[in-house]
Amino acid sequence: MKTRLSVNVNKIATLRNARGGNIPNLYQFVNDIQKFGIHGITVHPRPDERHITLKDTYEISKIVKTNYNIEGYPDDRFIKIISDIKPEQATIVPDTHDVITSDQGWDTVKNKSFLIEIIKKLKSFGTKVSIFINPEIEYVEGAFDCGADRIELYTGDYSSDYLQDKNNSIKKYLNASLKGKELNMDVNAGHDLNLDNLKYFKSKISFLFEVSIGHALISDSIYYGIENTIKKYLAELNYE
Ligand code: PXP
Repeated sequence: MKTRLSVNVNKIATLRNARGGNIPNLYQFVNDIQKFGIHGITVHPRPDERHITLKDTYEISKIVKTNYNIEGYPDDRFIKIISDIKPEQATIVPDTHDVITSDQGWDTVKNKSFLIEIIKKLKSFGTKVSIFINPEIEYVEGAFDCGADRIELYTGDYSSDYLQDKNNSIKKYLNASLKGKELNMDVNAGHDLNLDNLKYFKSKISFLFEVSIGHALISDSIYYGIENTIKKYLAELNYE
């Protein structure tokens, strides 16, 4: 199965915002990387607009020709964005506004009634809903019970454990993915995936639907250039 590569462009906005001008040009970047063979664009428009702004989120929706994935905590602001734009995918994350990055998934058991309502609302806009979770069977089953179309497994632990013992690092991800597949949900993954650990993850979970990658991919592009970097990531996912 082909795995979609969705590029998270938050870091390009971070760099642009550091000077307040329009360098690098985020929209040009989005246009260009779509020509280099990626399958989606991801943004995480946080309320403090420290990287992707609300304006960016709407502007990018006009130029995405691949799959648009908008991530965020599902508050009223987020729901309005999704209802206006109706992206292909919305990924809901549990984090509070002040975290540096989303570093844990939902407890889909404890938050079940909240999530059922939110997911129903987001799906009513025709958007696929992916829910960010840690790789635990009970959270996968909980995601299914809440009506999610997709799960995104938080791979932060995988990336650190991989350095110690790669056989062991993948086990809970494989089990959680198999459970997701059994329940007919697409399985996505993201966080700290990079050119060292991506190939192994894909080789063990071949039916992976999408990976969403930002930090490492944008950092690699400083050395390799963005077109070459994308080629390298696509090769890790078995694209020729
Ligand atoms: N998935 C989610 C839900 C995220 O919040 C992020 C970071 O914004 C990513 C994937 C991508 O992680 P990274 O930038 O480490 O590749």
